[in-house]
Amino acid sequence: MSKTIIVSNRLPLKLSLDGDKITATPSVGGLATGMKSVHTDGDSLWIGWSGLTDDTLTTTQKEKVAEKIRQENCAAVALTQQEVDDFYLGFSNKTLWPLFHYFLEYAKFEKDQWETYQRVNERFAKVILEHTGEDDIIWVHDYQLLLVPQLVKEQRPKSTIGFFLHIPFPSFEIFRTFPWREEVLQGMLGADLLGFHTYDYERHFLSSVKRILRREVSFNKISYDNREIKVDSFPMGIDYDKFYSSAKQHMDKSLEERSELQQRLDSHKEISGDGSKLILSIDRMDYTKGIPNRIRAFEYFLEKYPEYIEKVRLIMLAVPSRSEVSTYKKLKQETDRLVGRINGKFSTVSWTPIWYYYRSMPFDNLIDLYTSADIALITPVRDGMNLVAKEYVATRVNGDGVLILSEMAGASKEMNEALLINPNNFEEFAATIKKAIEMPLEEQQSRIKILQKRLSRYNVERWANEFMKSLKETQQTKDIFV
Ligand code: UDP
Ligand code: G6P
Repeated sequence: MSKTIIVSNRLPLKLSLDGDKITATPSVGGLATGMKSVHTDGDSLWIGWSGLTDDTLTTTQKEKVAEKIRQENCAAVALTQQEVDDFYLGFSNKTLWPLFHYFLEYAKFEKDQWETYQRVNERFAKVILEHTGEDDIIWVHDYQLLLVPQLVKEQRPKSTIGFFLHIPFPSFEIFRTFPWREEVLQGMLGADLLGFHTYDYERHFLSSVKRILRREVSFNKISYDNREIKVDSFPMGIDYDKFYSSAKQHMDKSLEERSELQQRLDSHKEISGDGSKLILSIDRMDYTKGIPNRIRAFEYFLEKYPEYIEKVRLIMLAVPSRSEVSTYKKLKQETDRLVGRINGKFSTVSWTPIWYYYRSMPFDNLIDLYTSADIALITPVRDGMNLVAKEYVATRVNGDGVLILSEMAGASKEMNEALLINPNNFEEFAATIKKAIEMPLEEQQSRIKILQKRLSRYNVERWANEFMKSLKETQQTKDIFV
C-alpha cells in the first residue's frame, strides 16, 4: 500500500526543551493548521524540522526528541544553529519570503545563505528517500523547499512528487531580479504536479518558466526533461466543521463556563452599551500582513467618524513570528509604538480603542475571539491565501458578522461577498469600517450564508483530495509519456 509523505520545513508541532523535558506546541500558520487535518485523517508520514537545533542537544535529549516525533507520525530533519541562521532565518525568510511577497527592498541576496539553502534542501531529499519506497506519494510544501522536488526526482525518477506553494508566486518582473532564478525553477520542475492557491500565481509561474527557462508551455502543461509537468490552482480551504461546531458549542456555554478572555470581551459590550462593536484582526506578526497600516487606518477612521469613539474597539492578536529577523523586530517596535500612540490619544476613563495581544492563543481562545467579533478586519498588503478570513466566516453560527478583506489576499478571489478593500486607500478603508458597522443584519446574514456555503463545500479535505487526485492522474500520463 502506498503512503502519502507530507514534507514541509515546519512540522505540525514545535518542540522546545527545558533540561530533558520536552514541550510540544502546535505550529502556527496556514500550512501547519491546514495540513494537520490531512495528516490526522490519513495514513501519512510528515517529514520536517522540529524547531530545535541539533548541535545544541545532548544524546539523551536527541533520543527524547526523536521518540516524541515518532509518536506523532513524523520524521525529523536535523538542522544546526548555523543552518537555522542561514537556511531558515536567512535565505528562506530574508530572501524568498520578501521577494515572493513583493518586498523587494527587504530581499537580501547572499551567496553563503544560498549555499546553505541548497545543502539543507539536499538533506530533506535524503531523509525523504530514506523514509519512502517507489510507490509512495511525496507531497512537498512551500518556499523553504523549492529545490527538493528535483533533488528527489534525480535520485528516483519514477517517484510521484507533488509540490504546493503556500505563498504568492510573484510576477515575472519581480522574479527576474532573483540571482538564482533558473536553479529555483528547475528545482520546482522536479515535481509532477505544481499547485498554487490562485490562478494568478499559477500564471506568473508559467510566465517565468517560459521567459527564463524558454520552455514550451501549453495551457497548464510544461514539457521538461522528457516529462510532462502539470500546473494548476487549488485554493486551500479550512476544516470548516471543526470551526463551525466549536463555535456552536461555545455559544451554548453557561456564564460560569466562559473563559477569562471571553469575560473581558463581554465587558466591552456591557460598558459601551447599544451600538458597541468589536473589530478583530488575527495575524502572525509579519510585515506582509499590513499591521501598522491597519492601525493608522483605524486612527483615521476614529478621526473622521468621532461618533464611534467609546463604541468601537479593535482587538488585535499578533502572533510572534521569526522575531530574530531584523525586519520583524522593527515591525514589532513600530506596532508597539503605534498602539501606544493611538491608545494614548483616544482613550477615555472607561475605554481604550485597541486591545493588543502579542502572543499565540490556544484554539478555544481563538474561538472566543472569532465568535465575539462583529467585524473581522483582515487587511494584508500581500498574502498567499489567508485562512483567518475563512475561519472567521466559519464561526458565524448565527449568520451575523462582517468580513472586511484585502484584495491582496489570495482568499479574496473566492470571497466576493466580503467587503473587499485596497488597504492602501485610507478613504476606502475608513468608509468600509463605517459601512460594516452600519450594515443591516439581513445583509450580513445573506453575505455570510453564501460564504459559508462555499467554504463548507470547498474545505481543506476537498482541497487535499483534489490535489492528490490530480497528482495520481500524472502517474497514468507518465506511463504514456515515457
Ligand atoms: N493561529 C494559531 N494560533 C494563534 C493565531 C492564529 O494557530 O494564536 C492560526 C490561525 O487559526 C490560522 C493560521 O494560524 O489557521 C494563520 O494562517 P493564515 O493563512 O491566515 O496566515 P499565515 O500565518 O499562514 O501567513
Ligand atoms: C506561512 C508559511 C509557512 C510557515 C508559516 C509560519 O504560513 O507559508 O511555510 O510555516 O508561515 O512561519 P514559520 O517561519 O514559523 O514556519
